[in-house]
Amino acid sequence: MGKEQTLLIVKPDAVRKNLIGEVLARLEKGGLKVVASKMVHLKEKEAEEFYAIHRERPFYRDLVNFMISGPVVISILEGEGAIAKNREIMGATNPKEAAPGTIRADFADSIDENAVHGSDGPDTARTEIAFFFTPQEICPRLKARDY
Ligand code: CMP
Repeated sequence: MGKEQTLLIVKPDAVRKNLIGEVLARLEKGGLKVVASKMVHLKEKEAEEFYAIHRERPFYRDLVNFMISGPVVISILEGEGAIAKNREIMGATNPKEAAPGTIRADFADSIDENAVHGSDGPDTARTEIAFFFTPQEICPRLKARDY
């Protein structure tokens, strides 16, 4: 699998509940490293573009409105199999289906307000990272001495 980078968003519901640290702590304890991070309040156009793949889905407008309802914390996580690891620690998209002890099982209220977003594969991770970060904003820790 090798070392990978993936995008994580702590969504407005989790930020409102003061869970930024808790979410990042769980991912760090899982072996992932934060190599870039910023808090932003997304503009409507940004949220629309980021979730453009869901444009035809019935939940698209609600999703965009939710994502601009408050600030989010967007991070790049790096590590062995980071994409799958992040998804494992987050739990299933629908908190009702999320395994016990996962972020979404513990903190998400519904599939719409589900606390976190994570890239679902290598191509998505690359696209999503480039959407929010310039290469200069990323501090990779891929050197062996950091692990
Ligand atoms: P996320 O991983 O951010 O990707 C798209 C989001 O749409 C998803 O998390 C959910 O919060 C939201 N969503 C709402 N309804 C659905 C659905 N039926 N299937 C998938 N995602 C949904």
